[in-house]
Amino acid sequence: GFACQAVQRDSRYAALQRLDVDVFTAILGSQNVVQDTETLQSSNRDWMGKYVGQSQVILRPSSTQELSKVMAHCNDRKLAVVPQAGNTGLAGGSVPIFDEVILQTAQMNRIHSFDEVSGALQCQAGCILGELNEHLAAAGYVMPLDLGPKDKCQIGGNVSTNAGGLKLIRYGSLHGSVLGLEVVLANGTIIDTMTPLRKDNTGYDVKQLFIGAEGTLGIISGVSILCPPKPAAVNLMFLAVQDWSAALQTFVRAKRKLAEVLSAFEFLDSSALDLTLHQLPHIVNPLPDHQAPFYLLVETSGSNGDHDQSKLKDFLKEAKHDKLIQGGTVASDSAHIGEIWQLRENISVALNKAGKTYKYDMSLPVAEMYGLVEDVRQRLQKYPVRVVGYGHLGDSNVHLNVSTEEWDDDVLHDLEPYVYDWVADRKGSISAEHGLGQMKSQYIGYTKQPDTVDMMRDLKQLLDPNGILNPYKVLPEHVSFPSAV
Ligand code: FAD
Ligand code: MLT
Ligand code: ZN
Repeated sequence: GFACQAVQRDSRYAALQRLDVDVFTAILGSQNVVQDTETLQSSNRDWMGKYVGQSQVILRPSSTQELSKVMAHCNDRKLAVVPQAGNTGLAGGSVPIFDEVILQTAQMNRIHSFDEVSGALQCQAGCILGELNEHLAAAGYVMPLDLGPKDKCQIGGNVSTNAGGLKLIRYGSLHGSVLGLEVVLANGTIIDTMTPLRKDNTGYDVKQLFIGAEGTLGIISGVSILCPPKPAAVNLMFLAVQDWSAALQTFVRAKRKLAEVLSAFEFLDSSALDLTLHQLPHIVNPLPDHQAPFYLLVETSGSNGDHDQSKLKDFLKEAKHDKLIQGGTVASDSAHIGEIWQLRENISVALNKAGKTYKYDMSLPVAEMYGLVEDVRQRLQKYPVRVVGYGHLGDSNVHLNVSTEEWDDDVLHDLEPYVYDWVADRKGSISAEHGLGQMKSQYIGYTKQPDTVDMMRDLKQLLDPNGILNPYKVLPEHVSFPSAV
């Protein structure tokens, strides 16, 4: 594991006792109070194998009522709790650090209703993203977000991390598409804002607090979310560009020429392409005869194939004429489109296979975004590491990944806080979409001002006075601020 050395178990939390297990069993039934070694091992470990906790019990409620009773008990006994959905989080937020109770939402997977006129979906938090998409497809709708682990991650986990993903440029953030939430607070109180309404200005928009809170303020039990119609026509371009400036100009061109049908604008560098093709031989290289420093995935989604194709041709003609793109391919059938998306979606899977990954997820001014990758590549030249850059160019969000054979403290010390300072200097965000979890909590001050962090602490104190919800995550005991301000 890669334990966060600085953190110590907080003695105000109780240790699990036989009596607690009896209470949980009375509420949930014995099959939903899991203590076998194998399940504990996999649930204590994060997707990257970077963080490993020591929880002794997993709870699996099926209803909000059960969840509420469990929380009331944990709060009375001061038992710390980690909510866990698909456990695909990339900041170590979904696994315990010490002996926190793991509260899994997988059994809360019922769809309550879908309104085929408004597009409002109401479901339990444990519904898997891909399964919601399947349910909606029958009615001609899709979920307003898409990301690699769609067959594993749950909508409650997505909302709790405020996941961005591959279609944010089109459908916006979950802060816009979530209509309402049902949340169980630390003491078991159920906050029900499960409205299907698009508009509701009756005071504070309470649900927003829980979107991106990473399970530190309450446990999301239900989600009401606005879903867009499933696009009838989709095209995906895979384009090679010679430098970052050409990538930026291609983005501007895409916004102008593709306009309302533009649905994704992603990038990867040649290092990401090479690593993915090398680690995952089943992944197809969309441009086998072309080598370039950067590749772009530019997707259109619309209602009329001919209309979109004519826009796409116009765009390509101009981009070629202005020498923005060196080569490319256009996919219009779903199999070919899926194949190209596989490449993009599997970069982090390939990194996992290659060894250990120091993973960063930054918001930066788009023009400077790749400079971080180049700078770090230069800085780490003396190590046998691979520095990989990819991400959501259309959202100014870069994923900087440093791949090593084994964890290496020297590499880590050359990376942190260097990369966080780099971002703070440019007023970026040290976590664009993955959250702070346990990985980045101590660096919150590199993006948020001290008064804002204090206000977060006040909110935490109000909603979870015993601090039992996902302790040691998001809000650190001691905040460090950037060295150069
Ligand atoms: P988990 O990992 O189980 O939990 C995430 C956090 O939310 C934890 O802090 C957990 O305690 C908390 N939580 C979970 N459920 C609840 C609940 N019901 N109530 C309160 N708190 C809860 N993220 C992106 O934003 N964009 C991407 O493109 C993207 N791509 C990814 C690709 C891969 C291959 C992988 C492995 C991850 C990717 N991620 C991405 C990160 C991750 O998948 C997302 O953050 C996802 O939204 C997490 O969902 P989950 O169900 O796995 O949640
Ligand atoms: C992605 O965009 O591929 C995800 O956020 C996962 C990652 O950053 O590795
Ligand atoms: Zn991402």
